[in-house]
Amino acid sequence: MKTMAKITLSIIKADVGSIGGHLKPSQKLLQTVENYIKTKGKNLIIDSYVGHTGDDIAILSTHKKGILNKEIHKLCWNAFLEGTKIAKKQGLYGAGQDLLKESFSGNIKGMGPQVCELEFEERPAEPFLMFAADKTEPGAYNLPLYLGFCDPMYSSGLILSPEIKKGFKFRIMDVAYTTAEKTIELVAPEEIYDIAALLRDNSRFVVESIWSREAGEQAVAVSTTRLHNIAGKYVGKDDPVMLVRVQKNFPATGEILSPYAMSPYVAGFMRGSHWGPLMPVKKNSSISFFDGPPSVSCLAFCVKNGKLTEPVDAFDHPFWDEVRKHSSKKAIEIRRQGFSGAAMLPMSELEYTGVMEVLKKLEKRFKIK
Ligand code: F6R
Ligand code: MG
Ligand code: MG
Repeated sequence: MKTMAKITLSIIKADVGSIGGHLKPSQKLLQTVENYIKTKGKNLIIDSYVGHTGDDIAILSTHKKGILNKEIHKLCWNAFLEGTKIAKKQGLYGAGQDLLKESFSGNIKGMGPQVCELEFEERPAEPFLMFAADKTEPGAYNLPLYLGFCDPMYSSGLILSPEIKKGFKFRIMDVAYTTAEKTIELVAPEEIYDIAALLRDNSRFVVESIWSREAGEQAVAVSTTRLHNIAGKYVGKDDPVMLVRVQKNFPATGEILSPYAMSPYVAGFMRGSHWGPLMPVKKNSSISFFDGPPSVSCLAFCVKNGKLTEPVDAFDHPFWDEVRKHSSKKAIEIRRQGFSGAAMLPMSELEYTGVMEVLKKLEKRFKIK
């Protein structure tokens, strides 16, 4: 039997500047990045889609070069450099903020932008989802992924479909370990309690990928970079991207989407230092209340021989208007308590150093009786 060449889906995403604070990129910036990919990538990529979620621009490309390919990564890096020039010209805020290294070497991982890639042999029909989130961290996907791939309360296919009943393998990364990539593999359903024990801590343990045990195929890839591990200081939240292949040997699109209806509280929001509800938003949405709320978009595509269909905006449906109202209520409720207790992140996750400095200054004034 003739084997098809594998195709790769790559999302590379960065914040290289936005209008009015950290709200959204300008049309001109977006257009510049898109034009660069279309013209300079002509002989390299098969197809592409460029869009934004909040202040982050995501480049989705399809190609046959495999993951971590230097040419593909360099193309996107250069597109963001080109965008940065425009951002500077327009006086956009945070121009080039996610491009943390001076020059390109090897691949873009560890240079600032988020990366998430999936390589596979296309099925006769190949539906997949492209998620992009702003004002939050990669662990924001932990709970929705756990529920979509392990819990029949959300993913009824785990009971109803023999194709996915065998369960899934989770590869989980300890992102607190910064000298190298440290991961563990655990299988559902046998080890779901262990999976849950790790995934409850979104800031440390992050789903990196998920694999079908029936087919051995990869279903999910999540970007896992922690920006402040690279920069050594706060330079913005990580704003993660994710690819999820769906249907047949994977959960259905609606099963993957269903956990987002709860708008779980995630870390991020104002100054990357608060808890806020993850609001499912329409494509190319802006950021607003309290530099948030943390937002996630989802575009559904099909791909054939690397050619993409137009995207369907999965959260642009009357159902999600109700969910957005619910997210707003959750956001208003937690914001009423300002800096106090559960509203602000613990000291270890605060993205600005102000509180540490206050503590240091006041330490001398404490009296011990
Ligand atoms: C959070 C975020 C914003 C900024 C805030 C202050 O990820 O991007 O909430 O932290 O607007 O921004 P700077 O420090 O750039 O003035
Ligand atoms: Mg930003
Ligand atoms: Mg952002």
